[in-house]
Amino acid sequence: MHEQTDSLSGGDEEPLTFRQPAVEDGAAMWALAKATGGLDMNSPYAYLMVGAYMGKTSIVAEDGDHLAGFISGFAAPEKPDTLFVWQVGVAPDQRGRKIATRMLLALLRRPEMSGIRFVETTVTPSNAASLALFNGLARHMGGQCDTIGQFGRTLFPGDGHEEELVLRIGPFGAAGHQGVST
Ligand SMILES: CC(C)(COP(=O)(O)OP(=O)(O)OC[C@H]1O[C@@H](n2cnc3c(N)ncnc32)[C@H](O)[C@@H]1OP(=O)(O)O)[C@@H](O)C(=O)NCCC(=O)NCCS
Repeated sequence: MHEQTDSLSGGDEEPLTFRQPAVEDGAAMWALAKATGGLDMNSPYAYLMVGAYMGKTSIVAEDGDHLAGFISGFAAPEKPDTLFVWQVGVAPDQRGRKIATRMLLALLRRPEMSGIRFVETTVTPSNAASLALFNGLARHMGGQCDTIGQFGRTLFPGDGHEEELVLRIGPFGAAGHQGVST
């Protein structure tokens, strides 16, 4: 299994392990997504599919035996230079350790990500932590964090969903990929 060491741990006494998720991580990712309180909940099946079919473009962070965070993502065939970050979740008691930032950087540092020049994602305008996370990614990787569109409220059923701004971070370029600052 793909394991990566943690390189943005700073003074963090408990090093995290970052690795590719497998189908067996699906239930724990679902439980963590639920525990965050801030994510749209997908079915348990969807999180199994993240492990089974999106492992190479997704990552989990473990603190000992516990799942501390996960990122689900994929690269659409029509945009092979772009990693779409679907969900980022960090356990409430693990926040403030830069785990989300460290997961993003560890994911983008994988050799198979060398062709990735952009990250795209969506964030709701009220999610300050998420906006800070992706602006921070531009600082670490180079490039800009631009809003390139949105999924408006009317696309969602009912009237209870805020719009989702589409962000694009990059371009990272070869130098950016080599020069990730941690
Ligand atoms: C968003 C989330 C993943 C961030 O996880 P985290 O590990 O605490 O994030 P980091 O420690 O890497 O911090 C990233 C940036 O966000 C900032 N930040 C973190 N929490 C914040 C908050 N509540 N309000 C404002 N900024 C915040 C940090 O200061 C940091 O910015 P900086 O680099 O400019 O200092 C986490 O809060 C979470 O799981 N939230 C619920 C789910 C969610 O909303 N996910 C994102 C949408 S997919």
